[in-house]
Amino acid sequence: MKVLVLNGSPKKKSDTFRMAEAFLRGLNKNQEHEVQIVNVIDKKIAPCRGCFGCWQKLDGHCVIEDDQNALLDEYRSADIIIWNFPLYCYGMPSHLKAFLDRTIPLVKMDMRQEENGRVRHEALVDFSRIHTVVLCGCGFPDWEGNFDGLKMQCRQCFGNLEMVCVPETPMLNVPEAAPLADPLLASFEKAGEEYAASLKLSAETIARLETPMIPKEMYINIVNGNA
Ligand SMILES: Cc1cc2nc3c(=O)[nH]c(=O)nc-3n(C[C@H](O)[C@H](O)[C@H](O)COP(=O)(O)O)c2cc1C
Repeated sequence: MKVLVLNGSPKKKSDTFRMAEAFLRGLNKNQEHEVQIVNVIDKKIAPCRGCFGCWQKLDGHCVIEDDQNALLDEYRSADIIIWNFPLYCYGMPSHLKAFLDRTIPLVKMDMRQEENGRVRHEALVDFSRIHTVVLCGCGFPDWEGNFDGLKMQCRQCFGNLEMVCVPETPMLNVPEAAPLADPLLASFEKAGEEYAASLKLSAETIARLETPMIPKEMYINIVNGNA
């Protein structure tokens, strides 16, 4: 299968990309997939101008000539798209959001209403064959609501979606935390294997991946230098 990884961390030594690396190891364990990793921060992707020029042309491309059009070609031909990124202000980092905004050329202006009342644009691409995985990490400990905005956005934007939201991800790059981080990364590898087999993640697997490495109070104390 063709796998496109959109790495949204702007950092060379990324916390959250460690999750993606482990997931990919599992994904490729029994069968080598064609994996393309795009460091979105390195791409020239201007903000959408809102001109709807793409809806005049309807060729699946944007009127702005930068790196986005080549990425749109990769996007529409992928079987699996993995969005991996740190939570920024309860959403995705702005360079990744610019990419998401500029996937609009892959739909038309025409709208249709689904049975459940939801309204969508008609697609130019058969999105039903594309499977999406969102792996997001964040700096806060676990608290209800931290990922709510992002979850809502991803559910609206992506079909065939599996989403994993992990708290305390700075621990993934702290050597002293390795005894706690390594088992989590091993679980990500297992999850990649599970996903390769079924294109799904069970509720148990997601719950395991989202379980905080240490209790909230302990994490806050360490961050505040009180531990
Ligand atoms: C601009 C900015 C905004 C952030 N906003 C949030 C946030 O809303 N919630 C949160 O829990 N962490 C937030 N964080 C923390 C990052 O998500 C966290 O440090 C993550 O582990 C960084 O991953 P990376 O090394 O892969 O980039 C923010 C970090 C930055 C730099």
